[in-house]
Amino acid sequence: RTLDVVTDSADLGPYRHYMQKEIFAQPVALADTLAAALKHGFSPALFGSDAHDIFSKTTAIRIVACGSSYHAGLVARYWIEEYTGLPVSVDIASEYRYRSGKEQDGTLIVAISQSGETADLLAALRSAKERGQVHILALCNVAHSTLTREADLVALTHAGIEIGVASTKAFTTQLAALFTLAGSLAHCRQTLDPAALAELANCLPRLPAMFTDIFPLETALEEWAHELSHYNHALFLGRHTLFPIALEGALKLKEIAYIHAEGYAAGELKHGPLALVDEEMPVIVCAANDALFDKLLSNLREVQARGGKIFLIAEPGCEAAFDYCHRTITLPSKTGPLAPIVFTLPLQFLAYHTACRKGTDVDKPRNLAKSVTVE
Ligand code: AGP
Repeated sequence: RTLDVVTDSADLGPYRHYMQKEIFAQPVALADTLAAALKHGFSPALFGSDAHDIFSKTTAIRIVACGSSYHAGLVARYWIEEYTGLPVSVDIASEYRYRSGKEQDGTLIVAISQSGETADLLAALRSAKERGQVHILALCNVAHSTLTREADLVALTHAGIEIGVASTKAFTTQLAALFTLAGSLAHCRQTLDPAALAELANCLPRLPAMFTDIFPLETALEEWAHELSHYNHALFLGRHTLFPIALEGALKLKEIAYIHAEGYAAGELKHGPLALVDEEMPVIVCAANDALFDKLLSNLREVQARGGKIFLIAEPGCEAAFDYCHRTITLPSKTGPLAPIVFTLPLQFLAYHTACRKGTDVDKPRNLAKSVTVE
C-alpha cells in the first residue's frame, strides 16, 4: 500500500513541482516544528509527560531509521554525544531488524520516520523491544501513525503533508526536532551548564530566516545544476555533522536526477574514493569554518591535484579554499551548531534543478514510493 495523496496542480501555486514548493515551505515548517521549544526552551516535557523520568534513566541511545531519516539520525549522533556524553549508535532499520544481540537496559530507541509507516522501521522496533528493557521515542511527521501508536514518547515534526517523494521539509524539520531532543536530554541530565544550554537554544529562533536568506542563491545553484546534469557521477564530501549531509545530498541527486552519487566523509578520501577523482568527477563539498576546516582544505588540495572539479558550498571565512575550486558559493552567515540543517538547503536546490534539467519526474521519481510500507 503506498500512501498516495491525491492532489491537483492548483495546490502548486507559483511552483513547478511539489518538491520546489516544499523546499520553499521550510521556513514555516521549521518555525512550526520549533514553536514549542521556542516557547518553553529545552524541556523534556516537549516529548511527553514521562520524558523526564525516561531521559534521566537513559543509559544509551540507539537511533533507527531508513533513507533520509537515517541521515538525520547520523547528524543527531554528533549533537547528542557532544551535549550529553551518552553513547549513541545509529542503525539502518532493515539491517538492525535482522541482527541479534541484546540492548543494554535503559536504552532509548529513537525511531525517526516521516510517514510512521515504514515497514522495516516498525519491524526494527518490535525487534528492539525483545532485546532488553528499552523505551521507544518516535520522531514522526504523522501524529496518528503506526509508529506513534507503538512508542512511549512522541516528538512530532510539523512539516505538513509532504507530497514530493524526495524528503525535503520533512528532513530539515527532523533535524530541528533532533537538535531539540539533544538539548532536552542535556537539560534533563544537567550535562551542560545553563549558559551553554542557553547558547544552543538561542540558535533556534534564527533558523527560519537562515533558510529565507539562502533562497536568493537558488539562481547560482541552478547554473551549477546545468553543468552537473551533464555528468554521470558525483561525489559529495563533508566532515563531522556535514558528513551525513553529504550522504543526503548524494541521495537527493540519485533519487530525483538519477545520477550515481556517493557521499563520503572527506577524511576517507585517501582510503579509496580518491581513485575515482579525475576531470569527469564533480566533487560537491560542504565547508564549515570550524576546527576541521584546515583538514578539509588538504582534502580539497588532494582532489584538485587529480583534476577533480570542486563545487564548494562554504560558510563565510572559508575563502582560503576558493583557489582549489571550480565553483564556489558562500552562505550569507555563519551557521554554528545548526550547520547540517542549513547546508541541506543548497543541496536540495542543486538536486532539484539538476533533475529539472534532466527532465525526470521530480515529484514521483521512477521506482520509488513516498512511504515504503512493504519490505
Ligand atoms: C528520502 O528522500 C526518501 N524519500 C526516503 O529515503 C525516505 O527518507 C525513507 O524511505 C524513509 O521514509 P520515512 O521517513 O517515512 O520512514
